[in-house]
Amino acid sequence: MRIPVIAGNWKMYKTPSEAIILAEGIVKALSSLDGPELVVCPPFTALAAVGQVVAGSRIGLGAQDLHWAREGAYTGEVSADMLQDIGCRYAIIGHSERRQYFGETDEGVNKKSRAALAGDLTPIVCVGETLTEREAGRADAVVEIQLKGALSGLAPEQVQRLIFAYEPVWAIGTGKTATPSQAEEMHAHIRKTIAMLVDAETACGVRILYGGSVKPENATELLERSEIDGALIGGASLQVDSFAAIAKAAQNTGFRV
Ligand code: 13P
Repeated sequence: MRIPVIAGNWKMYKTPSEAIILAEGIVKALSSLDGPELVVCPPFTALAAVGQVVAGSRIGLGAQDLHWAREGAYTGEVSADMLQDIGCRYAIIGHSERRQYFGETDEGVNKKSRAALAGDLTPIVCVGETLTEREAGRADAVVEIQLKGALSGLAPEQVQRLIFAYEPVWAIGTGKTATPSQAEEMHAHIRKTIAMLVDAETACGVRILYGGSVKPENATELLERSEIDGALIGGASLQVDSFAAIAKAAQNTGFRV
């Protein structure tokens, strides 16, 4: 059974004091919600403070990135052990903004995923094509290459512990959502690719989230598609009401078997 995941990527928004207020609102709004796994991913500076707010609640804490080494002379970086120690249980890896602005590569995504797993964090591995790639008919191939790189050398038991997020770059922060059919087609392609790279059982069990302008108004039509196991939300995760409304939509659309 695939339990849906609703994760908020707060990106570079919210100071620690603002983050505490948002996290308190989310805990209050959603602590009695049954069903979906809920995650918030604040910026590094707010992780410890938000970790204290969500401790003991059903809201999980995630980082937006990590370094692949356990420790070392890597100025400005943060390791899986450091994140684990302040209560993190998830880490977003390979977000398109990191690929686009900070030189993240598929090889880096692979190394970071291994480090996250070794540090007992659940990686949320992001893939997705640009508009140019989609218009050139290359979306499937691009995502396939990203998956191949991300999963290189991982054992099926490791892949089982990953969460995937399909985030078409052209839908992020643009207000342009992939249609439910476009998203579902790509999710099916991702699952097929994982089956090919790993095995069918692993592919059937992993959760694949959709991300890109998910809002309360479009959440239900996306989440009710059987291939879509949840959402990775940017803008709409920065307000209690919109994040809570999407989480509730996930509760109503049920689990996948
Ligand atoms: P938006 O929901 O703001 O489009 O962002 C999506 C995203 O990048 C989540 O990781």
